[in-house]
Amino acid sequence: MLTFRTIKSLTQCLSGYRTSGLRIGFVPTMGFLHDGHRALIAESVERCDITVVSIFVNPAQFGPTEDLERYPRALDADHELCRKAGVSMIFLPDASEIYPPGFQTFVEPGPVAGPLCGAVRPGHFRGVATVVTKLFAIVQPDVAFFGQKDFQQCAVIRQMVRDLNLPVEIVTVPTVREPDGLAMSSRNSYLGPTDRKRALCLSRGLLAAQAAFAEGERDSGRLIAIAQSQITAVDQLQYLELRDAQTLEAIHGLVDKPVALCVAAMIGPTRLIDNVLLTPPRTALSDRDLEVVSCAVDRQVNVGGQGSRPS
Ligand code: PAF
Repeated sequence: MLTFRTIKSLTQCLSGYRTSGLRIGFVPTMGFLHDGHRALIAESVERCDITVVSIFVNPAQFGPTEDLERYPRALDADHELCRKAGVSMIFLPDASEIYPPGFQTFVEPGPVAGPLCGAVRPGHFRGVATVVTKLFAIVQPDVAFFGQKDFQQCAVIRQMVRDLNLPVEIVTVPTVREPDGLAMSSRNSYLGPTDRKRALCLSRGLLAAQAAFAEGERDSGRLIAIAQSQITAVDQLQYLELRDAQTLEAIHGLVDKPVALCVAAMIGPTRLIDNVLLTPPRTALSDRDLEVVSCAVDRQVNVGGQGSRPS
């Protein structure tokens, strides 16, 4: 496994592989890797000849009062996870490599970035879209892998790839959960034991709504109420909303197409997000719907193989 810190050295090496016709898979990350990242890497290793993982805590996607400075870092453990998982190359740039002096061009996502996290974290998706576009231009992958836990991020990136004709296939990989249901996240490391227990109400609520949906409940208000009745241990509920799985438009009334039930909440000082997909059986799925739900519906991932599963 090779590690590159500069764009020049990485692109020189990758161009050789590209001209040999090898398929390049890419997993962009901010490090502090966990089993959720491991699942993305495994998917890439299975589908591609070369897997590149970037580790870059992107300052452009953090607000002024957010956790950029204390975002968890564990480079040695990240290297070890990548090596064992079959990663070919790690890209580990400094902030000045990605945003050199004089940098001034950003990618501005459209309405898909407006609600949910976009409303709570102004500028966040502009930062994500900008760095992902830059990383795509640097790595020039055939396929890039993102986790369903960041559902809106996936929607923003799919839309951006379509709108800007970026020559990369986007694969969404299902959320990986701890055996007790908590969605894996680098920010889980902020949770002390009491907050960790309280955080479980998020997945409990989502999975209760998912179970009701599986039993035939289609009323959006009742589905949200079912989830909300479990999500009582949070300090601030930022949103709990049903959204069209592809456009993220708000859903009212009956659910008759694939939707995502999305939640964000503060548990003490820690902000957590989670979601489940609700896909009515026998829905005529468009190609674009299929892009969003295919991985998530086909394979459901749960560390330890027990307990509640995401849709
Ligand atoms: O999901 C993440 O870890 C980040 O938002 C990403 C995609 C690596 C961009 O910085």
